[in-house]
Amino acid sequence: MEPSKAERESFEVTPWEVRGRVDYRKLAETFGVKLLSESELKVIERHAGELHYLLRRGFFYAHRGLETILSCIEQKTRWALYTGRGPSADLHLGHIVPWMFAKWLCDKFGVELFFEMTDDEKFLIRDISLEDANRYAYDNALTLIALGFKPSQLHLIVDTEDIGYLYRIALRVAKCLTLSTVKHTFGFTDSMNVGAVFFPTLQISVAFLPTELYREKTPVLIPAGIDQDPYFRLARDLAEKLGYPKPSTIYCKFIPALTGEEKMSASRPETAIYVLDDETTVRRKIMNALTGGQPTRELQRRLGGNPENCVVYRYFLAYVDDDSLVCKIYRDCRQGSILCGECKQILFEHIVKLLRVLRENREKAKDRVWEYRLSTKFK
Ligand code: TYM
Repeated sequence: MEPSKAERESFEVTPWEVRGRVDYRKLAETFGVKLLSESELKVIERHAGELHYLLRRGFFYAHRGLETILSCIEQKTRWALYTGRGPSADLHLGHIVPWMFAKWLCDKFGVELFFEMTDDEKFLIRDISLEDANRYAYDNALTLIALGFKPSQLHLIVDTEDIGYLYRIALRVAKCLTLSTVKHTFGFTDSMNVGAVFFPTLQISVAFLPTELYREKTPVLIPAGIDQDPYFRLARDLAEKLGYPKPSTIYCKFIPALTGEEKMSASRPETAIYVLDDETTVRRKIMNALTGGQPTRELQRRLGGNPENCVVYRYFLAYVDDDSLVCKIYRDCRQGSILCGECKQILFEHIVKLLRVLRENREKAKDRVWEYRLSTKFK
């Protein structure tokens, strides 16, 4: 999906909003993050024995300071993973992409994931009560656990409940951050509430927490959507001054909305597939998705479709591990030997299978969230 010149010049990515068609190369340049290189991928592949399909297919595509983690991997020294969620609504398929990747990293490299639920953040910046944000934190945690994490792999932090682990770090971070830096980094105006202005210190603090808990300098790798980069740019600027290793990040592109907008977003329900959508709803949403198909069946057969411009094909890339199936879909679409309806049906079957597993595992996780809580394991 190559953006036009006009589109390239008119997009915006912040932790709260993604507008326009994102040119990911240009975004990497603007943010000052590096594109993942072949040689970096080779190191991961050599040590993991394979590359996750999200790496192979370029969904995870950029980073800050990945070389620190690669050298931990090569020298077999301790590192940890960190990511999170601002719980204000049900999860959609886009949210779980960084978490699926994190699970793979946990399995392949024997590392632990520190996961922050920022119920405080959502209370401060959205029209949602503290109680509801906290309830969503627990609900969203079920889906996270449903991805297959073992309690030894996942340490769950709920900001409003686990603040004791973060507050001392956050104070040190806060003392180094000026109001003008926070305003400039996040685009806050003077009408922003002071809680929202303080909040970034908490998202930054978790990047330093493993060093405190393990009592040894522990570099972290943060898999996330690239919209979260402003927090970690600040974290890297402050780390050394505070005696912590600079956190490293690895960023994914966005899973698009069903209607083709750049980012699937919980604020536009008809354009997103939710983990808890029932099968009839999932079918309806997929059947209405934007495709790269021709306007008529005859033209599709004669001219073939355009997978590069097709949301359905992007979902195959994001959620179907099987390379041979994904290649077949691409070829058949190009040659016009598959129609959009048939292709959507195949995608529907794969997505529904994934959602069924998540729903079953969520049920099993219901009484077990405490086993994953940071506070159960680190006193
Ligand atoms: P939140 O809840 O907005 O998003 C959670 C994670 O999902 C990613 N994401 C997507 N990735 C791909 N395609 C999409 N359509 C899509 N939509 C969302 C986000 O980039 C993010 O990685 N402030 C954070 C919570 C947080 C956090 C962290 C996130 C706290 N600590 C550390 C990442 C890393 C937030 O509100 O995320």
